[in-house]
Amino acid sequence: MTPAKILKLMPVFCLALFFTLGEVFAYEPGVMRASGVFLLAGLGIALMALRSRDGPSPVDITIFIFIWLAVSGIWLAPLFTQKILAGFAAALLYAALFLMAALPPVLGLGFFTEFFARKRTPPQLRETDIYRKINLHLNWFWAGIFVLCGLAGLVPAFWPDLAGHFTRLLFHTFIPLAFLLGVGFPLTRGYPDYYQRKLGLEPVTFEGDVEKNESVIPRTIKENVMSSQNKVVAVNGSPHVGMGSTDIMLDMLAEELALHGLDLEVIHLHGKDIGYCVGCALCLNKGKCWQNDDHKKITDKLFAADAVILASPVYFRSVTGQMKTFFDRCLVHGHNPRAFSKPGLAVSVSAGWGETEVGAYLANSLHVFGAYSVGTFTAMAVSPGAFCGKEAVEARAKDLAGDLARALKEKRRYPPTDQDFSFWSFMGWLVRENKEIMAHDYEHWQENGLFESFEKFIGLSTEKVSYDSQMHEAWIKKVISEAKNTSGVKEKDRKKPSGAASAASCYELIEMMPRAFNSEKAGDLKATIQFKVTGSEDFSAYLSIENQKCLFQQGEAAKADIVITTPADLWMDISTGKVNGQTAFMSGKYQVKGDMSLLLKMGDLFGG
Ligand SMILES: Cc1cc2nc3c(=O)[nH]c(=O)nc-3n(C[C@H](O)[C@H](O)[C@H](O)COP(=O)(O)O)c2cc1C
Repeated sequence: MTPAKILKLMPVFCLALFFTLGEVFAYEPGVMRASGVFLLAGLGIALMALRSRDGPSPVDITIFIFIWLAVSGIWLAPLFTQKILAGFAAALLYAALFLMAALPPVLGLGFFTEFFARKRTPPQLRETDIYRKINLHLNWFWAGIFVLCGLAGLVPAFWPDLAGHFTRLLFHTFIPLAFLLGVGFPLTRGYPDYYQRKLGLEPVTFEGDVEKNESVIPRTIKENVMSSQNKVVAVNGSPHVGMGSTDIMLDMLAEELALHGLDLEVIHLHGKDIGYCVGCALCLNKGKCWQNDDHKKITDKLFAADAVILASPVYFRSVTGQMKTFFDRCLVHGHNPRAFSKPGLAVSVSAGWGETEVGAYLANSLHVFGAYSVGTFTAMAVSPGAFCGKEAVEARAKDLAGDLARALKEKRRYPPTDQDFSFWSFMGWLVRENKEIMAHDYEHWQENGLFESFEKFIGLSTEKVSYDSQMHEAWIKKVISEAKNTSGVKEKDRKKPSGAASAASCYELIEMMPRAFNSEKAGDLKATIQFKVTGSEDFSAYLSIENQKCLFQQGEAAKADIVITTPADLWMDISTGKVNGQTAFMSGKYQVKGDMSLLLKMGDLFGG
């Protein structure tokens, strides 16, 4: 054992000695006075020595206070203290430990477990809500254990028949030790991983002291988490700051994002100093606006964010004036394509007219900040928070925040759309033709090689397919013969498609599953299998199995026996055998709730 470890164990050792002396000499003041002072001095020196290292832990300090109070009592009121200690020493110690756990959170001073958790958690992760939640749970869990230990310690005092030496030892020491070592420590070790897995996250664990040795942090964690990929910035165009429906929707997202370890900072445009765009277009030449106001500070934040949310209520079938003014001033960035390297969300609420349009407009506007839309969060509410279908709105917030978090974690990139291509090819022409007026834009396009290839700039290459005339002809023949084979043939007589591999999308794949359904294997099975597909496709659909029939339906079932939440690409890969479904499930790549036996049966039911 190293000297550092011995030093760490000193407080517990002093405590054990105090209790042993007390038990052997029945807390006789003559013995306890001198030995108590001696122990207290030793403990004090140990705590001072610990200060120059990690510092004494909350448990060490509690032990010190406990012994100090006991020794003071023995000096000041010997007989009374002897009586109290002889009956309740163990219970009092656990009461002190309970207060150590319970008081700081009540006073807003954090959790005692953080002292220990810090050593295993890099600073960036300590800012996350997941870290706080794990500590909150563990803190109160330990408070509960101290209560149980205290109750065990009280038993001999209230049942004199049990007050023999052995039973005192049993209730004061062995039973509490069983709680501490048998339940407390294993749970403290296992709970953080369990909690992260429950959220569908790959647990971040460290072997060793991260405070002393940064190299114990795995490289991938450094890149993914330590790069603080956790800042989501939202711009809210509503004038209802802290009291509007848009704000409430952002709060819903924030709550869910926090569970994924993501911070949401909301910037309210209302009250900010942002002047109207006067249309001088000087920014296209100089790369900045002549107005020195809050606009740049906000766009700087959006560019620096890991994910972006644009939110506005519907005002006269468009965004609010605040949001529009903000966008107008973004002209300075409007001609310069950016790689769609970060995920984003569009949020819009109306009283019942226009939120879809505005949502789409906001989703498109994300491109200005190099973000792509993971989804559009829309709702209807006439007055603040009075949403049509509030539960569905909340569920949607949960889903979209989860999608955003996953897109961020997986560092997803999205391909440009047809609109992007046509917009940027027009923009390229415009900038080239007007290079004197748009000098800054022209420079940007040239520097980034955008005139040659927009796809290259955004990191996507168009795959070149080598042309083989014979193969091409054979392919055309195959297409025509397939068409002849199927045209005019009744749906039920058509050949089954050649399995999952023929599906062009995850939606199509799930829609085709009833065709591969094996009714014999189903027997008298009655079940509903719900799919929640995320990622490159975003939909919910379910399969109802009853009377040896399988039916596909869009949307969410009223009651499902099993809910499979999966990224679209992953489910396609599992269905075509490219990815092992079980391994993917075990590593948390998709989540399953409900009757797991159904998941295991799916191979038989849809195995073709
Ligand atoms: C000036 C103004 C114009 C509005 N125009 C529309 C509209 O075109 N369509 C609509 O459905 N609601 C419209 N509304 C209602 C708001 O979109 C709706 O109340 C929304 O929930 C407000 O969100 P907030 O509380 O976050 O500001 C308008 C409200 C105002 C004040």
